[in-house]
Amino acid sequence: MILGSLRARLLGWLLLPLTVFVCISGIMSLQNARSTANLLQDNALISSMRIIGEDIDWDNGEIVVQIPPAALELFESPERDNVFYKIVDGHNRLLAGNPDLPLPDTFSSTPAFYDAVLNDGRRVRAAVYVRQLFDSGRVENVTVAVAKTEFSRDAMVAAQWRPQLIRLVLMLLLAMLLVYFGLTFELRPLMKLKDDVSDRAPSQLQPIRAERLHFELRPIVDAINQCISRMSLQAATQRQFISDAAHQLRTPLTLLDTQIQFARQRPSEDEQLAEALAGMHKSSRKMAVLTSKLLLLAHTESSQPGRGEECVDLSAAISGVLGDLVAFAQQKDIDLGAEISDDMCVAGDETLMTALLTNLVDNALRYTQRGGWVTVTAQRSGASAVVQVIDNGPGISAEARSRVFERFYRASADTEGSGLGLSIVREIANRHGGTVRLTPGKRGVGLLATVTMRLWCDPASAVAEEKGR
Ligand SMILES: Nc1ncnc2c1ncn2[C@@H]1O[C@H](COP(=O)(O)OP(=O)(O)OP(=O)(O)O)[C@@H](O)[C@H]1O
Ligand SMILES: [Mg+2]
Repeated sequence: MILGSLRARLLGWLLLPLTVFVCISGIMSLQNARSTANLLQDNALISSMRIIGEDIDWDNGEIVVQIPPAALELFESPERDNVFYKIVDGHNRLLAGNPDLPLPDTFSSTPAFYDAVLNDGRRVRAAVYVRQLFDSGRVENVTVAVAKTEFSRDAMVAAQWRPQLIRLVLMLLLAMLLVYFGLTFELRPLMKLKDDVSDRAPSQLQPIRAERLHFELRPIVDAINQCISRMSLQAATQRQFISDAAHQLRTPLTLLDTQIQFARQRPSEDEQLAEALAGMHKSSRKMAVLTSKLLLLAHTESSQPGRGEECVDLSAAISGVLGDLVAFAQQKDIDLGAEISDDMCVAGDETLMTALLTNLVDNALRYTQRGGWVTVTAQRSGASAVVQVIDNGPGISAEARSRVFERFYRASADTEGSGLGLSIVREIANRHGGTVRLTPGKRGVGLLATVTMRLWCDPASAVAEEKGR
């Protein structure tokens, strides 16, 4: 998952060299801190060793060693280091100090430094030199060695190195944070592009706008746009084919209908022929309805959303549809009524709006049993108009409700129909920026179809309102 993320990979590529840089800088500053601390420690060892060495003298032919307090006070520190010294004569006899302190194999009058381990395992840093003592022709080589544990040196290294390490780590964290936010910010156009492509409805085939995108992304967007334009051409060709086919079918179908009607009017004794002619008449009517629905669907799909919108008087449109279907309602003895709270105008195409309402009311009347009721309501809700068609028919099961908007899907085979009505309703609602929802009716009886659409906003008054602000 992380390896597949472009952000994580870019972050990795940027942070890898930064981390290497921080590690190398950390090691270098540790070495610097160590050499500074060593230098200071070695200087203190030399000073102490010389102070001790200068105080060694002859007394009545004997070598006398006195340790001046200043020689040891040099090493005083809060870490309380242990200090050792060892003074031996030319015959390697101990004159003073700690016999455990080991001496290096070779040393001379020039001070030398070495690291040693005491018998009890303590590690020490030591300095050693040889002082020649002269007394009436006698020469004695006295070796002076001073050593100390390394607590104060380690403390000094830590005190110098730790702030630098903290600074480097903070720098790395800050860089990580900045790079993360920078990448998130810079990848926003890419995420927007992804949303733009994935949130599109199948019918949304306008090209993606590339102006605000980084120029690295433009070739991708151009390629997507080329693909969209090919798909759009293909979809338009298909729609045109369906529309042409439906249109071409209309004339022969009308002719066929007229011919069948003519044949039925001819006096005939043959009952079977009359029955066959009645069946042919029914089928030709069905085909005529189907072709006109296909034409309507093709017309809806090819209409540009928002283009050619006009103010559609909702109460007039509902009254017109109810007027057309009242005879059908009377045939089935269904109480068809309307409750329209306000005069409302919705933004859209009048023919398509009428088709939407007709399909919903037609469904309600068609599927509701004899003696039922169907009510159409329309009311304002904010900037939208909400139209509801309610009936007390059989309703649609939850499973079928999720499929009834598919083309040619029919939930029941008892009544005739092509299964295109609700697809047309949804297509029209979407074209007008609206929505359609099917839910069970009151107390779970019947069906409630709710269509929400934008109220008409007069462009001239909208401009005036905008200027007034
Ligand atoms: N008010 C309703 N009550 C019960 N069932 C309904 C209602 N409206 C639609 N349906 C069910 O949903 C199915 C799909 O409806 P749709 O309007 O798309 O197609 P149709 O009515 O079968 O055919 P047509 O294309 O002639 O409208 C119908 O077959 C019907 O079973
Ligand atoms: Mg229908």
